[in-house]
Amino acid sequence: MNTAKRYPMPLPFGWFVVSYANELKIGDVKAVRYFGQDQVLFRGESGKAAMLDAYCPHLGAHLGHGGLVKKDCIECPFHAWEWDANGKVANIPYAKNIPPRAKEAKIFTYPTVEKNNLIYAWYHPNGDEPSYEVETYPEILDPEWSDHFDSYEYIVDCHIQDMAENAVDAAHFQYVHGVVSYPEFEVTYDNQKRTSVQEANMETPRGTIKGKITAYSNGPGDNATKFEGICDTLLLGSTTPIEGEKCIVRFAFLQKKINGEEPVGGVGAAIIKDINKQVKEDIPIWENKKFALKPVLCDMDGPIAKFRKQYATFYVDYDEAQSIAALNLD
Ligand code: FES
Ligand SMILES: [Fe+2]
Repeated sequence: MNTAKRYPMPLPFGWFVVSYANELKIGDVKAVRYFGQDQVLFRGESGKAAMLDAYCPHLGAHLGHGGLVKKDCIECPFHAWEWDANGKVANIPYAKNIPPRAKEAKIFTYPTVEKNNLIYAWYHPNGDEPSYEVETYPEILDPEWSDHFDSYEYIVDCHIQDMAENAVDAAHFQYVHGVVSYPEFEVTYDNQKRTSVQEANMETPRGTIKGKITAYSNGPGDNATKFEGICDTLLLGSTTPIEGEKCIVRFAFLQKKINGEEPVGGVGAAIIKDINKQVKEDIPIWENKKFALKPVLCDMDGPIAKFRKQYATFYVDYDEAQSIAALNLD
């Protein structure tokens, strides 16, 4: 793998999935790494999840390697200082007094939200507060839909924006994924949201069925695609940067029950298999490409310029306007 920087962009701000909710039980402490930084993720005794920068302000131990949950605090493995979910010192068990400098110390704390059976953390390069909310997907709590995610995970050496751009790159569906006809879709934007609707007729042994694919993006890290027609499927496809040019993709599928039963095998399984096949086909392109700052485009390439223009709103200290201007398509 070539280690030279392939992307000029920094990381975008937004809500990003950092864990499945059921993989962080009460009392669990995990060392994690997202956004090019080390963190500790833990769930306090009251059930609240918290994500803090990993390193203890006392003498620098990593709280995720041997730290313990005490009430809603994390106890450092080195000298047992206790830090609360807001990153403030709560107790120094061997000190007669908590000195003023320790009272002032604060470990950087990521805002977290638990929704959709996922834990999301807010990343902003300047530490700014969240500027929008995580979406709620009603299918997740709907008894008519599967009770558990069918989940898949991919680690991809690529910048998050390039992976997202794939959704509006109409022409690649034929050449990378073997889709038979050029996909027609309509993309709309509303602040941080992007919605793409594609009507697709599906040939089945029972004749042609009218299908619809709705891809929904609520900022860079909160994405869902709904497939309607044969076997209704919801995919929460969440991408979270680990480093500038490395991401984790979590694919969590739910399907609509048929006569009260979760679909097993058949068309339902084929849909999930096909979506996973598509991402596996994209990965070698993503991992070996370079960001084309001034791409040479043609008329049927899909709304790439518009996509980039909206994506640029998730950056601070990066003037992507130059690349938008260079495209000169809007
Ligand atoms: S390094 Fe954490 S308590 Fe000392
Ligand atoms: Fe693709």
